[in-house]
Amino acid sequence: METNTQNIVEVRNLTTTYGTRVIHDRISFNIGKKEIFALLGGSGSGKSTLLNTMIFLKQPKRGEVRILGQDIWRLNAKDALKMKLNIGVLFQFGALFSSLSVLENLMIPLREWTHFSSQDIESLAYIWLTRVGLKAEVAKLYPNELSGGMVKRVGLARALALSPKILFLDEPTSGLDPKSARHFDDLIMELRDLLELSVVMVTHDMESVKGAVDRMVILKDQKVFFEGSVRTLEQQTESLDLFLYQI
Ligand SMILES: Nc1ncnc2c1ncn2[C@@H]1O[C@H](COP(=O)(O)OP(=O)(O)OP(=O)(O)O)[C@@H](O)[C@H]1O
Ligand SMILES: [Mg+2]
Repeated sequence: METNTQNIVEVRNLTTTYGTRVIHDRISFNIGKKEIFALLGGSGSGKSTLLNTMIFLKQPKRGEVRILGQDIWRLNAKDALKMKLNIGVLFQFGALFSSLSVLENLMIPLREWTHFSSQDIESLAYIWLTRVGLKAEVAKLYPNELSGGMVKRVGLARALALSPKILFLDEPTSGLDPKSARHFDDLIMELRDLLELSVVMVTHDMESVKGAVDRMVILKDQKVFFEGSVRTLEQQTESLDLFLYQI
């Protein structure tokens, strides 16, 4: 299959199942470099399962997930490990270790995956803290001393600590109040520009879709019901709001 170098992710004829139950039936779509791309669909439509096929958590039954031109489910162990370093993930309940301070939480991936000195690792952790809009004082706090928005930001900093090319987010604004949610969207857009990231997010948050997302797929009945930009969808539907709230 030909690979377009403008695409960071290419999903080809992907079928996923749990037991005999088909969740996705030969779906295909592309995610462009530096896009903020959303996976949408009703509850149970397979958004999280689809995300999981891109982060090595759910093996597809058939078809391909190509990231940076490579079919990730057919890599040998060594290449799979290298590929995983291109990927940062913020899970919905982006668990921080509650017994560790923010700084210690941020240092974990750097300790595990780099040979930097402790001093360099600490400096990097502070850099990431600032990049996600948190003050240096936050470093010494523990997760139970943070607001929901701050927890998300620390989780984000940790997901980005190894400078991945693609950031995967599962419901990043869920549980945040509307104002914090919009700030988080703004941060994602800023980081995309600053770090030249591609961002793939599962979301129910229609304000995020309208404000931050470039393109999306909408999943329905095991298929891709729509792939394209918010603007295209707007042109195709009478009321975008009504349409988005109905899916
Ligand atoms: N580990 C699993 N084993 C069996 N079935 C599963 C598993 N995970 C998900 N499913 C089923 O697969 C379908 C798709 O689930 P998935 O979590 O991908 O949907 P979703 O679109 O993310 O839904 P939501 O919006 O509720 O998070 C659901 O019917 C779900 O019950
Ligand atoms: Mg889900």
